[in-house]
Amino acid sequence: MNEVIQEMNIFDLIEVMRIEEESFVKKWSMNDFLYELIVNEKAKYFVYKMNNKIIAYIGEWHLEDEIHIANLAVDLNYRKKGIATKLLKATMERANFLNVNIISLEVRLSNINAINLYEKIGFIKTDILENYYEIEDGVRMVYKIAGGINGK
Ligand SMILES: CC(C)(COP(=O)(O)OP(=O)(O)OC[C@H]1O[C@@H](n2cnc3c(N)ncnc32)[C@H](O)[C@@H]1OP(=O)(O)O)[C@@H](O)C(=O)NCCC(=O)NCCS
Repeated sequence: MNEVIQEMNIFDLIEVMRIEEESFVKKWSMNDFLYELIVNEKAKYFVYKMNNKIIAYIGEWHLEDEIHIANLAVDLNYRKKGIATKLLKATMERANFLNVNIISLEVRLSNINAINLYEKIGFIKTDILENYYEIEDGVRMVYKIAGGINGK
């Protein structure tokens, strides 16, 4: 099995959109991804490929002092095999390399699978975000980088 994590490009978007559509109630459109890849200078997106097929992706915003996870999804047929964990570990390596203090994200309070995933690799819940997803609450979660630039 050949597995690789690569930067996402616009030619990946057909496959990425297939995964996006099976993964979320409120889905990003092709235009949302195009904006991220072409316009948003802070955005860095990565795909996880197995034998040249896109299985998962993660989107990050590289802000001054943190990496914010904007999107993460794994192909329905490949879940619970540690792939999201691999993508998040790669994000952690980038955070270390960039010397930022935290990795942050928001997730629906009802998304127990994702909350379990984030907690398992060391994220903690910091804030409840009331009505963040229209009628549903969200939760902000943070992973603190040991030895981040300000040691916060
Ligand atoms: C959440 C998601 C990204 C997890 O991806 P994954 O590759 O299946 O996750 P992993 O295999 O790395 O799982 C690691 C841990 O996460 C938790 N987890 C993942 N899926 C779970 C599930 N279905 N039920 C309970 N816990 C789960 C478990 O703690 C798991 O560890 P374990 O396998 O030892 O039990 C995937 O289910 C997905 O794409 N969901 C739809 C999109 C989404 O919700 N994205 C996150 C938005 S914030």
